[in-house]
Amino acid sequence: MSDRAAELVAALAGLKAEAEEQIRSAADGEALQRLKTDYLGRKAGRVTAILKELPSLPDDARRPVGQAGNEVKTAIEQALAAAEAALAAASPAEAADLTMPARPIWRGALHPVTTVTDEICGIFRELGFTRAVGPEAETERNNFTALNFPPEHPALDAQDSFYLGPATVLRTHTSPVQIRVMEAYQPPIRVVIPGRCYRRDPYDASHAPVFHQVEGLVVDEGITFVDLKAAITFFARRFLAPGVKVRFRPSFFPFTEPSAEVDVECPQCGGSGCSVCKQGGWMELLGCGMVDPAVFEAVGVDAERYTGWAFGMGLDRAAMIRYGIPDIRMLFDADMRFHAQFVDAP
Ligand code: DAH
Repeated sequence: MSDRAAELVAALAGLKAEAEEQIRSAADGEALQRLKTDYLGRKAGRVTAILKELPSLPDDARRPVGQAGNEVKTAIEQALAAAEAALAAASPAEAADLTMPARPIWRGALHPVTTVTDEICGIFRELGFTRAVGPEAETERNNFTALNFPPEHPALDAQDSFYLGPATVLRTHTSPVQIRVMEAYQPPIRVVIPGRCYRRDPYDASHAPVFHQVEGLVVDEGITFVDLKAAITFFARRFLAPGVKVRFRPSFFPFTEPSAEVDVECPQCGGSGCSVCKQGGWMELLGCGMVDPAVFEAVGVDAERYTGWAFGMGLDRAAMIRYGIPDIRMLFDADMRFHAQFVDAP
C-alpha cells in the first residue's frame, strides 16, 4: 500500500470516529441532517472527497482505500439511522406538539331573524295557526289590487316598488299570500306567512331594501275584533314578557277595516323612555285589522257569512326589539363579530 493510500485509510478512520462522536451528541433531527451532508454529501461530503481521489491512486492502492471508504460510509449511515430512531422514540412530541392549542371548531349560529321567525310561528302554532309561504315575485294584482289598494296609491309607483315587468313586482309585503291562501283554501283559515319583502327604501339604520315580514290571517264565521285583540296580546306577551303592556292605536291599511297599529312597552327601558324607543316608552310592533270586505270579494269569500282579521309584522324589527339591536344593517352585513354572539342564543 502506498503512503498516500495509508494516509487516506487513516483519514477515513479518523472521519468515522469524529462522525460517530458528533452523531452521538446531535441534539435533533436537523443536526443529524447537517452531519449527513457534512460527511456523505455527494458534492462536498468529507468522506466523498476522499473517495473521489480513488481514480488517481495507483492500482494496488485503490482497493484498500475503496474498501475502507465503503465501510466508513456504511458505519456513518447506520449511526445516523440509529440516532434518528432514538430521537423519534425519545421525543414523540417532535412529531405532534401536544402543547399546541387545539384548532378552534367554528360553530354556526342561526340568524337572529330565523330564530324569531321560528319562535313567532311557534307561538301562533299554539293558537292553531299553520305556516304558509308564497313567492317573492308577485303579480301586481295579488300585491296591490286584490288587497284593495286604489290604482293611484303611491306604493304602486315604480319609485317605491321594484317592478320586474309591467304587472310583476318583488312583493312589497307578505299580504299577497293572504290572497293566495284564500283562493286555495276554504274557511276556516288560520295561517302565519313569513317571508322576504322588497321596497325601494334607503339602506340606513332603520330601513333596508330587502327585509322580512310575517303575515297572519284568520277567516271564519263569527270572528270579531275581540279575537284579534286577544290573539295579538297573547302573542306579544309570549314573545316579549308575560306582563308587557300592549296598546292598540287606530290606523289605516287598504286591506283592513278597521285597522290598528300595535305598540308594546319598550323592553329596553320598561316604558320610562330611552334611546331605543326614542324616549317615547313604546315600540311599534305590528299592523293589523279586520279583513276588508273588498278583499273577500276579490277572492270570492262570502263576506256575509265570514269575517276575519289579519296582521303584518316586520321580523327584522322584531329581532331588533328582542335582542336590542340598534341598527337593521347589522342583520344584513354578515360581520362575524355580530353573528358569533348568537351561538347558543336562546
Ligand atoms: N302589509 C302591511 C305592511 O307591509 C302590514 C299589515 C298591516 C299587514 C295590517 C296586515 C294587516 O295583514 O292587517 O306595512
